[in-house]
Order: sequence, then C-alpha cells, then structure tokens
Amino acid sequence: MDRIVVRGGRRLTGEVTLSGSKNSTLALMAAALLTDDEVVLRNVPRVRDVDGLLAIFEALGAKAGWDPQDSHAVRINASTVCRYEAPYDLVRKMRASFMVLGPLVTRFGQARVSEPGGCAIGVRPIDQHLKGIEALGGKTHLDHGYVEVSGAPLVGVNFSFDITTVNGTQNVMMAATLAKGETVLENAAREPEVVELVEVLRKMGADIEGEGTARIVIRGVERLHGVEHCVAGDRIEAGTLLCAAAVTHGDVWIHGASAETMGATLEKLREIGVEITVQGDSIRARVPNGLHGTHVTTAPYPGFATDMQAQIMALLLVAEGSSVVTEKVFENRFMHVPELQRLGADITLDGRSAHLRGGAKLMGAPVMATDLRASAGLLVAALAAEGETTVHRVYHIDRGYERIEEKLKSLGADIRREG
Ligand code: EPU
Repeated sequence: MDRIVVRGGRRLTGEVTLSGSKNSTLALMAAALLTDDEVVLRNVPRVRDVDGLLAIFEALGAKAGWDPQDSHAVRINASTVCRYEAPYDLVRKMRASFMVLGPLVTRFGQARVSEPGGCAIGVRPIDQHLKGIEALGGKTHLDHGYVEVSGAPLVGVNFSFDITTVNGTQNVMMAATLAKGETVLENAAREPEVVELVEVLRKMGADIEGEGTARIVIRGVERLHGVEHCVAGDRIEAGTLLCAAAVTHGDVWIHGASAETMGATLEKLREIGVEITVQGDSIRARVPNGLHGTHVTTAPYPGFATDMQAQIMALLLVAEGSSVVTEKVFENRFMHVPELQRLGADITLDGRSAHLRGGAKLMGAPVMATDLRASAGLLVAALAAEGETTVHRVYHIDRGYERIEEKLKSLGADIRREG
C-alpha cells in the first residue's frame, strides 16, 4: 500500500495548475445516463473516484472510459445501458455513485442501487434523495441492502429538502429533467458543483433555472442530447494548495481557479494573515507577516466548506494564538485530530468544536489517512513539521487529488511516494 513521505520545513514557491473538480465530474458523469448520445467531459482529474464511477457505468452496460486521445477526458455513451443495478461492492467505495439513481429511474423507469452505508465522516443518510424521488412519483422499496425504485414516467412536483444536500439536490434535479411537467425544488444546495451541473444539463437541452439559489425550477423535457464540457478547476484542491503554501510561509500562484467560488476560504485565509491576490483565474498566496488564529465554522455554500476544514485546521496549528474550528455539516469529521496530535498539535475536542492552541512546534511522525480531506490536512501539517512524516493509506488521497505529491514537489516540497 502506497505511503507519502514528507520532510517538512521547505518553503513552497512557484506556480501550479489545478486539476478539474472531482465532485463536479462525478455529478456530470451521472448526468450522462440521461441521454442516448455521447457525453464527453474534459479536464477530468485522474483520481480513483472517477475510475470507481466508470466501473459502475460498465456494470450498467454503458460504454464509458478514458479517451485514448486525451488523458483527461472521459467519454460516456449510455445508449447501451441494459442493467439497472449499481452493486454494493462498487457503491460502498464511493457514495457519490448513489447519484446514478435519479437518472436511471427517470430514463429507464427502474433502478436498483446499493445503499451506500456509513463512511468515515459520518452516518450520511440518503433519506433526502429518496424523499425527493418519491415526491416525483418513484416507488421506492428496500430490498436486502438495495434501494429499488420504479415508476416512470416521473411527474413534476413542488418539493422542499429538509436539509441542504449537495448530491441529493443533484440527484433529484437530474430525475426531474425528464419528468412530466414542472418541478420546484426548495432549500436546494447552492454549491458551485450544483451550478455547473445545471449549466451542463441546460447544454443537453434541459429547462432549468434558479441554480445558485435555494429554489431551482425544472420543466421536464422529452429527451436530452449529448454534450462536450470542460470541467471547472477544483476549488477544494485550490484551497488545499493555498493552505500548503501558507503553512510554509511560501509564495505560490495557482492557476485554473475560480476565486468567485472560493469566497469563504479566501476570506478566512486573509483573516489568518495570508495575502491573497486574484488575477483572472489565478490566485497567489503569500505570508508577508505572521499568521494568527481565528474561528472557522463549516456550513453549506456559500459558507466555509467542510471539505476545507482539515486543511485550515492544519494551517491554524502553526498560527499564533488560539483558534476554534466547528464542524456543522458532518457529525464525525474530526478523524484527523488524533493524527495531528501525533505530530504535536495541541487540540481539544468538545463536541462539534476543536479548540486549538496555535504556534505549536510540529514534529514529523507516522500518521494514518482516514478519509480524503483528513489526508489533505495531514499533508499540510507535515509540510510544516520538523523531520519526516509518513502518511499511510494514501489511497484516500488518491480518491480525490491527482498526483498531489508531484504538485507539491514542483513547488519545492521534499515529498515522495513510496510503494
Ligand atoms: N444528509 C442527510 N440525508 C441525505 C443527504 C445528506 O441527512 O439524504 C446529511 C449528511 O449526512 C450531511 C449533510 O446532510 O450531514 C450534508 O451532506 P451532503 O448531502 O450535502 O453531502 P454529499 O452530497 O453526500 C458532497 C460532496 C462531499 C462534501 C459534501 C458537503 C460529492 C461527491 N461529495 O457530499 O465531498 O463534503 O457534499 O459539501 O459531491 C469530499 O470531496 O471529500 C466530500 C466528502
């Protein structure tokens, strides 16, 4: 099993280009099930989650794979789909695959998708996905760990989510694109990945408005057609690299970013003492003076992203003064805390809040990656730690970051992957 070894203390400088957004890509791939035509996605990150979803497409009978002519493009043709089941072994590895449910039901009138189960960051129920699909007329039935849904054609409805859910919004919205009549989704997620999905669905012929607000209106159409789309840069990778630059008091430009989608992250970094400069699709982070502690509370977009919580916590460990990091989106997203403590971090957990005493001298140690963003937080901390940190179980990182160690190395980090 691969591990990443970091020798901390090197100041990061230089420029790096982002990969495409992992989370956008996964939703956009699911949308390919809504049409018989080919869907081509470019700027797709070479990460394990994309391969995981490709495996599900294969199980469904779709033609789907990496484009031999373009190493960062996937081509999906769902005209050959002949099975409607996403099996447990594939879904449990990646919850996002539950997003095939809405498209399968609305297009083929049936779907059987394994319940994803819990994961390292919390219970993560799927009740809102199912409530939305049921509101559209889908008949759901639980069968030996599988959710079975039947009932085409779906019919438009007014539906309000009880909580804000990103993949839930995407799933139900996709189902509504081919439903009969108008669907109004209230309390919808406003994340940039929802907005990008709407943009692509619209290019495919869908009639949708309201993306980026909590009220999305979808008027069902008879059919959708193919599309070619270049995926936006990954805002979480961007934030991770900015934290990595800041924790080493470095000076780094990242290219391919969209600063408008990163408001809360950039605001917090500035508050901590990081000088942020935005020029077109490039963002520079440098630390002219010291770093100081602050309070961070995660929330649905446009709030501070839960996917950036571990990384900003790592950065706050080296800032002067105390900080409080509160996790409001997931109930168990502090798995990185005991690992950070192994590096010498002074953190006390109190329910959903972590109290940090900053300015600690971090020391390298072997640590264990527990989930994707926790691993990213460990890498950020390792860059500032004295001596060598070995991050084990890096397959978690490979789920969502493409060659992160090469990108950090190109900025001057002393980092290597060992097999
Ligand atoms: N929730 C429910 N019921 C549902 C759905 C969600 O109670 O039916 C709860 C969840 O348990 C959680 C909260 O609602 O407490 C928000 O979860 P959400 O549904 O928004 O998360 P998600 O859509 O499953 C996506 C990202 C996550 C990211 C969250 C929040 C993808 C593939 N995943 O998950 O990304 O943390 O939104 O922004 O888009 C990651 O990239 O590392 C990652 C975990």
